[in-house]
Amino acid sequence: MQFKRFSVLSFLIFSVLKIDAQSGPNWSEHVAPIIYKSCTPCHSAGGIAPFALSNYNEVKYLGNAVVSATQAKRMPPFPASLEKNRYAHENVLSAYEIDVIKRWNENNHPQGDTSKEPKKPVQNSKSDLPRVDATYKMTPYLVKTNDDVYRCFAIPSNLFIDKMIKGMEVVPGNRKIVHHVLIFQDTSQKPLQLDNADPEPGYSAFGSTGSATSVLMGMYVPGQSPFIYPLDFAARLKKNSVIVIQIHYPPGINQIWDSTKLNLMLEDPKSQREVFVQSPLNFSNNSLINGPLYIEANTIKSFSNRFVMPAKISLLAVAPHMHLLGDSIKSFLVNGVDTTDIIDIPKWDFHWQMAYQFRKPIVSPKGSVLWGKATYDNTYANPHNPNMPPRDVAAGEGTADEMFLIYYWYTLYKTGDENLELDTTPLKMLNVSGINKNKIVAYPNPSTNEIRVINLPYRSNIRVYNSVGNLMYGDNVISPTISINIQDWPVGVYIIHSAGSQGDSIFRFIKN
Ligand code: HEC
Repeated sequence: MQFKRFSVLSFLIFSVLKIDAQSGPNWSEHVAPIIYKSCTPCHSAGGIAPFALSNYNEVKYLGNAVVSATQAKRMPPFPASLEKNRYAHENVLSAYEIDVIKRWNENNHPQGDTSKEPKKPVQNSKSDLPRVDATYKMTPYLVKTNDDVYRCFAIPSNLFIDKMIKGMEVVPGNRKIVHHVLIFQDTSQKPLQLDNADPEPGYSAFGSTGSATSVLMGMYVPGQSPFIYPLDFAARLKKNSVIVIQIHYPPGINQIWDSTKLNLMLEDPKSQREVFVQSPLNFSNNSLINGPLYIEANTIKSFSNRFVMPAKISLLAVAPHMHLLGDSIKSFLVNGVDTTDIIDIPKWDFHWQMAYQFRKPIVSPKGSVLWGKATYDNTYANPHNPNMPPRDVAAGEGTADEMFLIYYWYTLYKTGDENLELDTTPLKMLNVSGINKNKIVAYPNPSTNEIRVINLPYRSNIRVYNSVGNLMYGDNVISPTISINIQDWPVGVYIIHSAGSQGDSIFRFIKN
């Protein structure tokens, strides 16, 4: 291979002139790309967050709050612990990005050359899916209260043969009020009956749909890109099924309209490997080990459940679900003496529930044991407690009832699954046009401690992104060669992007 040749040659390293180090990070080149990617999708004039972070002045004015929220990792919201498992498309900032924001705030917010500012993300109702094959739009609904609203909208799929869902995208009708969305399919008519029985569009339901045959398809929180199944994976949308869109509208939005829609990219069943979504760990039929799910007032109580794998499968994603007393939840797989962490949400927040896609399948042999453990806080100390003073809470579908459910996306095992890369983040996030005009090269590849980039065009801007688009390194360089210390970076695939007067160039390398 080409890289081998470079790794045996020795290079004269030019001293690297770091313009960055002299002037510190500025808005246009360093801070704006981070804010636009990770904050503006929610923090914009029409977005779900209470204030905008969508231009220089807004971010400068709130500089200290932005530093505080990013240092403490409260923002962007991502409740799963990254110490236990890592996920595809994680919306979190890298340590480098958090530090760039802090240094910029300390240096009194230099604006830099505004012509270098990246394009602001635009929010419209256009689709980000490669192709849209079906759209399901709810009847426009007027929120008529200042309280929280949880409402299901049932829409016939109008499919007369089974199809495979390859991609799924929620397009909020009104981004200011759609806080989170759960998508279900149901082969019974029950959701349509419930919808028809209510004189307004949709019907009231919290957590689940009120129909025992509903199956979760996906979830959405603001700012999220479309969910696209990687490789040849896809989930079945059964013929004649009913699609249920459940939306949470937050308090304080009386007299505001919404009309949210669901876009689907569909494939033929023959061409795809089927993914199933099930919640084998649940609270039904008193299946909890120390159940039933009943949390006395003023207590903190934990429950666990286990499920023995009846066949060898590959787990692809997970989504825990509890209601407002939920405090923490985790899941792991025990196979003989080996334990694999699947998810750990140390501080559960009902309002930021999402599905977490793994970077590689977690292979679960027949006989291995899937565990789930959840803790509920039914005391005054829980700010989300629906009862003040606290009251005894039992399992159920209402806002004030509780649930214990862990959904898993899985497929039947095939040889080689453990080596599949599920994190197929599209390169489009790099916003590169006309790439590879001037080819840069980096070596050794794979590398552990240091990566050397050569063939850099004179005066180029070089950035390194991890596989989910976080900036790991950024600099303006004059010399044709630089070395980057990658010792502390997580193992994974990285993309080097150089931009200069002679055009853009990218190179991928592996850190191991
Ligand atoms: C998924 C949507 C979303 C994203 C992405 C997001 N925020 Fe927020 N943010 C919110 C919402 C909603 C609130 C209001 C409080 C709440 O509901 O948690 C908030 C509150 C805040 C607050 C005030 C409360 C606190 O915790 O300090 C700050 C500051 C903030 N966000 C900064 C940021 C920054 C900086 C980013 C990007 C690095 C970001 N947010 C990304 C939705 C988001």
